[in-house]
Amino acid sequence: MSTVAILLSAFILSVVGLLVFIVSVRYGLLDGSQKAAEVIFARDEVGRTEEPAITSQQRSALQAVAGPAELPAPSPTLDSDLFARAEADRSSSLVVFIFLCSAMAWLLVASLAGLTASLKLHMPDALASQAWLTFGRVRTVHLNAVAYGWAPMAGLGIALFVLPRVLKTRLVGANYALLGAMLWNAGLVAGLGSIAVGLTDGMEWLEIPWQIGICFAVGGALIGMPLVLTLLSTRVSHLYVSVWYMGCALFWFPVLYLVAKFPFVHFGVEQATTNWWFGHSVLGLFYTPLALASIYYFLPKIIGRPIQSYGLSLLGFWTLAFFYGQVGGHHLIGGPVPGWMVTLSIVQSMMMIIPVIAFTVNLHQTMTGNFRALLYSPTLRFVTIGGMMYTLSSLQGSFEALRSVNVITHFTHFTVAHAHLGLYAFVSFVFFGAIYFIVPRITQREWPYPGLIAAHFWCAAVGVGIYFVALTIAGTLQGLAMLDAARPFIDSVTLTVPYLQARSFGGGLMVLGHLFFIANFVCVILGLGPNRDKPAMFPLADLNKAGAGS
Ligand code: HEM
Repeated sequence: MSTVAILLSAFILSVVGLLVFIVSVRYGLLDGSQKAAEVIFARDEVGRTEEPAITSQQRSALQAVAGPAELPAPSPTLDSDLFARAEADRSSSLVVFIFLCSAMAWLLVASLAGLTASLKLHMPDALASQAWLTFGRVRTVHLNAVAYGWAPMAGLGIALFVLPRVLKTRLVGANYALLGAMLWNAGLVAGLGSIAVGLTDGMEWLEIPWQIGICFAVGGALIGMPLVLTLLSTRVSHLYVSVWYMGCALFWFPVLYLVAKFPFVHFGVEQATTNWWFGHSVLGLFYTPLALASIYYFLPKIIGRPIQSYGLSLLGFWTLAFFYGQVGGHHLIGGPVPGWMVTLSIVQSMMMIIPVIAFTVNLHQTMTGNFRALLYSPTLRFVTIGGMMYTLSSLQGSFEALRSVNVITHFTHFTVAHAHLGLYAFVSFVFFGAIYFIVPRITQREWPYPGLIAAHFWCAAVGVGIYFVALTIAGTLQGLAMLDAARPFIDSVTLTVPYLQARSFGGGLMVLGHLFFIANFVCVILGLGPNRDKPAMFPLADLNKAGAGS
């Protein structure tokens, strides 16, 4: 397929997007009024905080700092709305649980592979006798386990939890998603196995052979089915911004993957272009919308206050949808590709500042006056820090795309630092927070060890901080050394060693945090730990009895 054909298809897709936009405006689906921001709340619920991951004392403290401390008794309308929400949770609980279990398993695999790869960069002789444990394979196993395991399983599980809540109905078609998850996970097991034995398609982010990749395309499409079916059965008059983000992510992934992986179509330079079109679009059009949708749902829900500007949230969504598709070309700056194509992607990268600023202003204004709530809500801590890291990583990415900056940072550890700021400090933090919120709801049990939640947060935050700072410095020094013709190349390698050791230390902390997270999750499932078997989060008199009787 020629470059012109690819650009033409991108143009046609954009026009289709524009048509969807116009139709949405015509039918009032983009209601930018502040009233629309309240659709995630039940009647009379604004002002009430919701944080399932903490004890009842902490909940009172959270309510005291984030809302009126003295709340009126729940009205019958509130009770009935909350009962409907509990029903929505019940309809999605099994499928969400399966997705979250898969996410946890892949997080463990990915963490161990990441740490092994990191150690090998400054201890090259360690574990060198087995081919599957060499850096090239372990690194690729790590990347694929986060990219196709942890992140999508967590993000899609969260989407399946949020959608029926926001659409105020039961989840329809959960079995399609279950089938999709089975196919997807089977594909990933086979895919990681094939990478370990050295069979890959040789493109970064697309290493898994296309014969196996079919599982992701079909599995992804099946996982999207409940969205379509639930949308058809909803009675809400307005689609909250999270539905737009999650819905589009569910639609965009199969399209991106199918186009990028289609066998015997892409060759040579055009293959590299498609490769990076996918590599970056999957970040911006799949993980990012899933994470932003989660922030737009969980953050206001926890503090009991609608987002400050609903109009800004819609601006953020549509500008992301329009600008992101052409960003991937900035990975090929200096490569043998047409200069105008790279320039176009640099321009689009800078234009991404618009959705990022729209989101940042909204996040800040919504949190203004509520920052003390961070002390009491671990979910909010993860989600808010994740949101802030979206701003940082995206702005960093826009500037990294400039030729003058890229000439130093390209092919260095700087890129790896940036990748972890985005997919870890932003996306994974938001997913951690959302999972802490969701698990008590779907299992009807509280987290048994709140101390482990705090330990997870601090290990992850300090760990990724060390990781990011160390590799940012290493990458900059490495880039400058490589540009200096007077210095031997080996200088650019040896100078990074202390920073790589620091990265292993930071990465080790992150892995420890993940072990705390997974251990707490396993305790919830097995009912281990202190007796915390009451969900006790809804202000309903006895939700369980009512549910059992229905
Ligand atoms: C959920 C957690 C994580 C996510 C989402 C994540 C994401 C990523 C991504 C996207 C890349 C590709 C970077 C690039 O080539 O630009 C990568 C590479 C890498 N990650 Fe992670 N990562 C995670 C955890 C970890 C941990 C805990 C470690 C431990 C030190 C680690 C170590 C590495 C290493 C060594 C590489 C290869 C870097 C290279 O090629 O030089 N990652 N990771």
